[in-house]
Amino acid sequence: MDPAVLDQILSGLPTLPDKNLLLSFGNRDDAAVYRLPSGDLLVQTLDFFTPVVDDPYDYGAIAAANSLSDIYAMNGQPLFALNICCFPKTVPWQIWNDVMRGGADKAVEAGINIAGGHTIEDSEPKYGLVVSGIIDENNYWSNEGAKPGDMLILTKPLGTGVLTTALKNEVITPDDASVAIEYMKMLNSTAQQVLNGFEVHACTDITGNGLLGHGSEIAKVSKVKFVIESERVPVFDGAFELAAAGKLPGGSRANRIYLRNYVETKLPENSGALWLLYDAQTSGGLFCALPASQAEEAVRKLQMAGLARSSIIGRVESGNGIEVL
Ligand code: CO
Ligand code: CO
Repeated sequence: MDPAVLDQILSGLPTLPDKNLLLSFGNRDDAAVYRLPSGDLLVQTLDFFTPVVDDPYDYGAIAAANSLSDIYAMNGQPLFALNICCFPKTVPWQIWNDVMRGGADKAVEAGINIAGGHTIEDSEPKYGLVVSGIIDENNYWSNEGAKPGDMLILTKPLGTGVLTTALKNEVITPDDASVAIEYMKMLNSTAQQVLNGFEVHACTDITGNGLLGHGSEIAKVSKVKFVIESERVPVFDGAFELAAAGKLPGGSRANRIYLRNYVETKLPENSGALWLLYDAQTSGGLFCALPASQAEEAVRKLQMAGLARSSIIGRVESGNGIEVL
């Protein structure tokens, strides 16, 4: 939802002091982290959304890849998942079976089982997962830790927000969106495995708040400034034209309003490149800060592993805010 509204909803809620709750709402991280009595760190996340594509199997697979992504963004290993399903009863059960098969296939690809869940009847379909995993206390990635001198790497192109909106409005065909659909189904586990070979200072995955929204979460808690070079940001074919024509999801507009005092740019008001940086993504790539000396090698290895569009898209400086060049 609109990040400004979310701030209000989350304000003033009661909490208990708990020294074992290592990460919760405060830093807007990808997942909560809790120290178990054994000493192991449990990482847990929940994500679900309404259909982004027509094909029920693809919808399930995308929703599951998106849910698992928050575990990978923290350098965690998923252990098991639970389904959360809101399904209209007017639609035949076979459709929902396809959705859940898409989700289950992704879970299997991630090496885990879906162990249960909860299902209700609802007028608008929604599907996603709760995912539980573990992280290594000495080697996990949060929003905090980006340092001046770091480079910023993005592992998947942007534009799923404008493309899925255009698909819903039948401005484009499923064929036009096929590359973006394949990317949305792609687990971020490969990116995580490659990046785990480098000194990642901070990491998140790009989802509903867009690159600049999730980027701002890192820049704020790391107390640094980001400089994004819009020309280096990978985008899906067709996304730029849709964004420049103002065919944007509501979430992208809300993201831009939320960040109006945080992002500085000389790009024109309705620049397609600028809108794509605010574009609300589904199952986007990992976005991380690591030392400049390691950045080119990291991108080369990501590309070799199949993430062909991985790119260095900017740098970290001292200061605050985000400057878009
Ligand atoms: Co996330
Ligand atoms: Co999430």
